[in-house]
Amino acid sequence: MRDRNKATDIRGLRLKVSQLRMETGSRKLSMALVVVLLGVYTEALVSRHMDDFIRAVKQVEEQDPGSEPAAVLKRLRRAAGLNDAFIQHFLGNADSGGPEMDPGLSDYIRKAMHHRVTEDAREEGVVLTSDGTTVALGPLLLGIEARLLSRRAQGLYQLTLAKDLSLSLRRSPHLGPDGCWDNFTAPQIFTLSDTPSLLTTAQVNGGMDGVVLGMKVSAKSRRPLRLSRLLTDYYCHQLGSEGLDAAPRLISRRRRDNFRQLVTAPVLARQVMKSAELQRRLKGQSKMGVKEKQQLVAAVNEGMKEFFHMYMECPPIIPRCMWGAEPYKGTPTNLSLPLSFLYIHHTHTPSQPCLTFQQCSADMRAMQRFHQVDRGWDDIGYSFVAGSDGHIYEGRGWHWRGAHTLGHNSVGYGVSFIGDYISSLPSQHSMALVRDQLASCAVGGGRLVADYILQGHRQVVNTSCPGDALYNEITGWEHFGEVKK
Ligand SMILES: *[C@@H]1O[C@H](CO)[C@@H](O)[C@H](O)[C@H]1NC(C)=O
Ligand SMILES: *[C@@H]1O[C@H](CO)[C@@H](O)[C@H](O)[C@H]1NC(C)=O
Ligand SMILES: *[C@@H]1O[C@H](CO)[C@@H](O)[C@H](O)[C@H]1NC(C)=O
Repeated sequence: MRDRNKATDIRGLRLKVSQLRMETGSRKLSMALVVVLLGVYTEALVSRHMDDFIRAVKQVEEQDPGSEPAAVLKRLRRAAGLNDAFIQHFLGNADSGGPEMDPGLSDYIRKAMHHRVTEDAREEGVVLTSDGTTVALGPLLLGIEARLLSRRAQGLYQLTLAKDLSLSLRRSPHLGPDGCWDNFTAPQIFTLSDTPSLLTTAQVNGGMDGVVLGMKVSAKSRRPLRLSRLLTDYYCHQLGSEGLDAAPRLISRRRRDNFRQLVTAPVLARQVMKSAELQRRLKGQSKMGVKEKQQLVAAVNEGMKEFFHMYMECPPIIPRCMWGAEPYKGTPTNLSLPLSFLYIHHTHTPSQPCLTFQQCSADMRAMQRFHQVDRGWDDIGYSFVAGSDGHIYEGRGWHWRGAHTLGHNSVGYGVSFIGDYISSLPSQHSMALVRDQLASCAVGGGRLVADYILQGHRQVVNTSCPGDALYNEITGWEHFGEVKK
């Protein structure tokens, strides 16, 4: 609608209004019935949790049994109003076909999927997933639909990430931020933690998932796959005791690993340029001039470095507000960056690796309570903590001086693995998360010098930490350094 010329717009509007009038008559009759049914939806589907959204998708599927997933996606897109000229260019018009959706269900889907950032920095159109990350639904579902509609997945990158990148990279800030939910069991409100860009972390997460799942869904097999099943397998996988080492490849916790394997920065940059040109064409504007194009190419290449650093080089870090941190007591001391050392710890207590967002968060809160209350420190001592759920948890973070390695807190970050590693090791996945990703994220972000030295806590303090097994392991890591005496 939005993209047609004014005359048709007005005619369309009149048509809509008269349709609406006609419909309201018959709707009133069925209202009582709807209200009864609605009770079921509204109670079950009040929250902005992915589990609730998947339940809504199931209801859409049940209303039209036997429908292809592509048809289900189209109905979701219609309910959400995701039907502008850019989307239609790749996916066709959503305003046709399929049975009328229940108004209560349709309303829930519209609210859950419609993306916007309000003036008070609330982000809508996003849901909390079980793994503690937040995902915009639009780019996720557009990516899957793109793949289902054409074998070559035309528009897959543009619909998920490239178009939004083409807009966001021209403005400052370019990317992010992440945010915080009001409640983790029944999330409703997601508030961004910094000045919003045109491409928030939740949109990036949704876009990455859209690309990853879009690649997975095979257009040629066309087996009767259910969208709700696909989303459940991807977002609700429960890890066994081996953590991610024994987990399937296509789960949301591996979002960045999968994306990194599928997409390179130059490929994405090319798609960003194509999106910019397509948007002009759809608006009836002429092609970009040489100079303008050069400027955009430069901005995109620069912006891709930032994107690559934030979302492909860095591991997913669960911010303090997401694990329920108490505030820092008093005033933190800023570190002066870059630092030269990375100190490895184990928590010892808790002694068991945590495998879920809930458990890792509870462990973080328990450690913070112990450090603040029993030890009388200002905050949890560690800079970062590695869970076995695929995520790093923010302790004091990149900027605040920690209390992890007595006498060395100003010169290094302290990173601890949740668990007791005297005689066993953390999962390979969580070790790689620290050794490869967190470390290169720190170097790439100018927080750690490139030739930093990695040491075990015991090398500089009289302690058995990080446990014999883990200590022996890290002696083989690339940046491991003996103590200079
Ligand atoms: C979250 O919401 C649920 C359901 O409304 C409520 O029972 C619970 O107390 C809330 N939790 C917090 C921490 O506010
Ligand atoms: C510490 O850093 C923050 C930004 O990270 C800044 O706002 C604050 O002013 C700094 N404090 C001091 C004492 O330098
Ligand atoms: C290290 O600590 C142990 C007990 O925790 C103690 O017996 C030992 O004397 C300490 N060594 C030094 C050099 O302080």
